[in-house]
Amino acid sequence: MSEEIKPRILKINVLRFDPNDKNDFPHIETFEVEEADGMTLYIALNEIREHNDNSLMFDFVCRAGICGSCSMLVDGRPTLACRTLTSKLGESITLAPLPLFKLIKDLSIYSGEWMRGLNERLETWIHDKEEELNFDKLEERMEPELADEIYELDRCVECGCCVAGCGTIQMKPDFVGAVGLNKIARYHLDPRDKRDDEEYYELIGNEDGVFGCMTLLGCEDVCPKDLPLQSKIAYLRRMMIKTALKN
Ligand code: SF4
Ligand code: F3S
Ligand code: FES
Repeated sequence: MSEEIKPRILKINVLRFDPNDKNDFPHIETFEVEEADGMTLYIALNEIREHNDNSLMFDFVCRAGICGSCSMLVDGRPTLACRTLTSKLGESITLAPLPLFKLIKDLSIYSGEWMRGLNERLETWIHDKEEELNFDKLEERMEPELADEIYELDRCVECGCCVAGCGTIQMKPDFVGAVGLNKIARYHLDPRDKRDDEEYYELIGNEDGVFGCMTLLGCEDVCPKDLPLQSKIAYLRRMMIKTALKN
């Protein structure tokens, strides 16, 4: 007779804090959850909210690694909770909110404010420089290989994991991080964007941009979309140096 394998009882330690409650202070609370087949941290957190404490706050929208809202520190590593299987973790799991972003409560952060500021600062949209919009104009043709390269970088979900995993941002809060550099590489590659190299130099040819990166490599290690962040940072460095030498 085959023996039934008992499911693991997970101990989920959550760093909890409500910055809007004057009487609250950061503290760890531990919840026990019976592990189920294929359980993700998303499912485990919902179990806790349903059965243990409905005041526990965390963010999820898509549950499929697309919206980037469920990023948190899992055993100290920034990652997407909806894509993390509990079976890949030990019995005791520690969850904390991503650092650097505004804390809403518990595991819920307001990364959208930071990302919006970054997008405004780097003007992450196509600059075609035409004075008047012409809806009859056909879009310029693009080689499929180039379209694929741009698409690869567009897969960034603005989860903030690379920001939380970068020691440079801890020291230089205005550093645009790998997420910002990835966006600039994406627009620089795009032939529809008519900004010239000098304009890109103005944007990121400085210590808050590409020359601030200390090649710590944490960004690429933790990016849940496996973006080629290092090669794009190197690409931008080469482009910046060429531009500086021209002037
Ligand atoms: Fe997240 Fe990767 Fe985009 Fe950084 S580059 S925000 S880690 S998807
Ligand atoms: Fe930070 Fe990545 Fe550069 S971790 S220092 S942006 S290589
Ligand atoms: Fe959307 Fe996790 S819930 S990425």
